Amino acid sequence: MTISILTLFPEIALAPLGESIIKRAREAGLVEIRAHQLRDWATGKHRKTDDYLCGGGQGMLLKPEPLFAAIEELRTPDTRVILMTPQGQQFKQAHARRLSNESHLLLVCGHYEGVDHRVIQELVDEELSIGDYVLTNGALAAAVVSDAIVRLLPGALGDERSPEDESFTDPHLLEAPAYTKPVDFRGLVVPDVLLSGHHAEIEEWKKNQALIRTRQNRPDLLQE
Ligand code: ADE
Repeated sequence: MTISILTLFPEIALAPLGESIIKRAREAGLVEIRAHQLRDWATGKHRKTDDYLCGGGQGMLLKPEPLFAAIEELRTPDTRVILMTPQGQQFKQAHARRLSNESHLLLVCGHYEGVDHRVIQELVDEELSIGDYVLTNGALAAAVVSDAIVRLLPGALGDERSPEDESFTDPHLLEAPAYTKPVDFRGLVVPDVLLSGHHAEIEEWKKNQALIRTRQNRPDLLQE
């Protein structure tokens, strides 16, 4: 798989993808991640990438010309073009699973108030948001989406870790609380059942705890 990130801030997008599991996945050849500077496709003396809003309003918008030129150059017939924007669908584990099967993702990052709508109309396959808040630009969002996808690529997590038994595998349930050693830490003890060796009881406990935690932290998941 190849992930191309088109942004005014390549270093912001790449920094979180140069460590740990994602770094190793890249080194192992599971994914190639490239960041492209949008300004390289801007023309004119000042290589301007933004302009005022038509019809008035606060802020600036990314101009269509450099985005069209860049996307048309970077995409191939197999590319899925995704715009990172707070106006997009909320990115979920299911999106990560689906997108991990693509051969080439082009993640386009907005800046200022976003991008000229003609880019979305003509070039974008889907719009994704990483949450209901506004970031200064889409580069961090592209890194978040890339991380969630790359860790699902076969071999990325190594033998000892599996993405199968974690929160959002079932989209209606969070993971149960988890403990490691020591069994007694400052008088706070690991629940007996987890030390019992009774697999069926442990599974039952985990299911119950997952439900309690979901009710407390994310009741919206149970209603979906
Ligand atoms: N760009 C700015 N805010 C964003 C968000 N919440 N998700 C995706 N891209 C963004």
